[in-house]
Amino acid sequence: MELQRIVVAHFSPTGGTKKVAQALQNGFKAGVEGLECQVVPFNFLSPTIRAKRVPKFTEHDLLIFAYPVFFGRMPWAFENWPELVGNGAKVIVVSVYGNRAIEDAARETMSFLSNHGFKVLGHIEAIAQHSQESTLAAHRPDDEDVVELKSFAQRILQTIKDQGFASLKEYEFDCTTPLKAPGKAPCVPFITDADNCDQCLRCVSACPCGIIDKDTISVKDEDLALCMGCRACMNVCKSCTRGFPQKVHQAIAERMAMIKAANSERKPNVLSLAP
Ligand SMILES: Cc1cc2nc3c(=O)[nH]c(=O)nc-3n(C[C@H](O)[C@H](O)[C@H](O)COP(=O)(O)O)c2cc1C
Ligand code: SF4
Ligand code: SF4
Repeated sequence: MELQRIVVAHFSPTGGTKKVAQALQNGFKAGVEGLECQVVPFNFLSPTIRAKRVPKFTEHDLLIFAYPVFFGRMPWAFENWPELVGNGAKVIVVSVYGNRAIEDAARETMSFLSNHGFKVLGHIEAIAQHSQESTLAAHRPDDEDVVELKSFAQRILQTIKDQGFASLKEYEFDCTTPLKAPGKAPCVPFITDADNCDQCLRCVSACPCGIIDKDTISVKDEDLALCMGCRACMNVCKSCTRGFPQKVHQAIAERMAMIKAANSERKPNVLSLAP
């Protein structure tokens, strides 16, 4: 069983996870001598793409699965995804986080992918600017991160070349301890200044949960609990009218100031493969 294709997948509401995935993808594309394979991207942010355009995986594929950590858990937008079928493909999970902590997100994502028919080979921890507080891990992944992430891709390829794709050992993870309770976004973003909304509908298309109603450009009451607080809708709003009231901004800023004070050191990117 040979490696034929590497699918570099990313779910990136505000762009940090995408940068990490691109750095890894460039490392895979650079290749190592004597190991040929196709490298393709897969952006699974959109619910329509997750439903209709999932690659067909086989045991000849390696999936690189990059996602952002939310409240120490995997984002729930894609947890119900019957179209994702591994068919024995191998996967390396890439947990992208904002310099605080990954907590249960990695083992949750490994369990999720394993339940979908993938064999987990390893884990990458990568840092990206915190999407709730831009001064935490500001501008990461930066040039140093990009070089390191590319080197991770090269190390993975070299391991495949040295050990053979079929003989790679599976990565062990804890899938029995209960997960921490899911976090809750403090407020669902809404149109704070209707006069400035030009009804471009960018926020409607950007929402990874597909919960912004296109007629009212707002989230219906029955869908409020589905909002992850990911900020994709705010990120694409050119007039910055989609957001929170000042009081909520203030509360988030105070909480994030405490998190920042406790996590001021530059945390490392880490690659772990089964020994
Ligand atoms: C609602 C929410 C919860 C988050 N929770 C965590 C967390 O538990 N730990 C952490 O280190 N970073 C956390 N972050 C930061 C993101 O993991 C980080 O900024 C990531 O790069 C965002 O990905 P994106 O830029 O692709 O959207 C959180 C961000 C948001 C919006
Ligand atoms: S409404 Fe906005 S913050 Fe909530 S899930 Fe959709 S894009 Fe993310
Ligand atoms: S992205 Fe902003 S301006 Fe465009 S429809 Fe949404 S709220 Fe209105």
